[in-house]
Amino acid sequence: MLQDIYNKIASTYDQDVLEMNRLELFPYDHYDDLLTTISSIISSQDHLETVQILDLGIGTANLYSKVMPERTQVVGLDFSRQMLEIAKLKCPNVTFVCHDFMKGLPEEYKHYRFDFIVSTYAIHDLDTNQLLDTIHYYLQFLNPMGKLILGDNLFLDYESSIRTKEKYLDSWNELSHYHIYNQLVSKINANLSLSYMKLSVSTGLIIIENVHECALQFEENLVQYVSNTMKWKSNPIRKKSE
Ligand SMILES: C[S@@+](CC[C@H](N)C(=O)[O-])C[C@H]1O[C@@H](n2cnc3c(N)ncnc32)[C@H](O)[C@@H]1O
Repeated sequence: MLQDIYNKIASTYDQDVLEMNRLELFPYDHYDDLLTTISSIISSQDHLETVQILDLGIGTANLYSKVMPERTQVVGLDFSRQMLEIAKLKCPNVTFVCHDFMKGLPEEYKHYRFDFIVSTYAIHDLDTNQLLDTIHYYLQFLNPMGKLILGDNLFLDYESSIRTKEKYLDSWNELSHYHIYNQLVSKINANLSLSYMKLSVSTGLIIIENVHECALQFEENLVQYVSNTMKWKSNPIRKKSE
């Protein structure tokens, strides 16, 4: 079982990913870049006193050594006890729950709402249908203007995935699901806004938010996320006489 595999690799996971990142080896060739990018998105939320985060497949919690613990409240789900044991030693402020996130949010957290729902290097364990179900299910737990951020070996298009597969044939895992942004976009609920941020040919982020909620909250001044950048674009408020 997948869970057993993660339990087995837990004790060397941090060392292995850092080494692969240093040597730029797939699949963790841009591991640090990916975590740093997500932590800067989280840290840029100056208007929030405390940023509420849910992490799906938190693993050894490396992301949270990059964000200020006093500004965040994190609930981290993972079904590997061994990964969580290591995470607990590193991040005593995070709430860790040993749980399969595919089974939904644990009952005791269902009344929580989050500013970010994050998942790094875990969605390659889900096939396309499982990923779509996960996205559509977890969005209900976002605060208005909240974002779901998925980071992994995520390709912009099919051609980039083929190029990477040819380059890294030895480390390309046929059992993993390396998702393709262009294919996901066509299958996702139309009320959602999706952006892809490319960190390397094989590593990227997908940021998903609820367009409907954004539009409601900013009725007069519609604010939209600009795809592929971290900038916000806002239309100037028009006076009624114009
Ligand atoms: C490759 S590790 C990534 C860990 C961490 N997010 C990181 O970026 O270093 C994937 C993690 O997701 C967890 N995971 C995968 N599928 C899961 C599921 N359905 N429910 C809970 N945890 C899951 C694994 O146990 C593992 O700790």
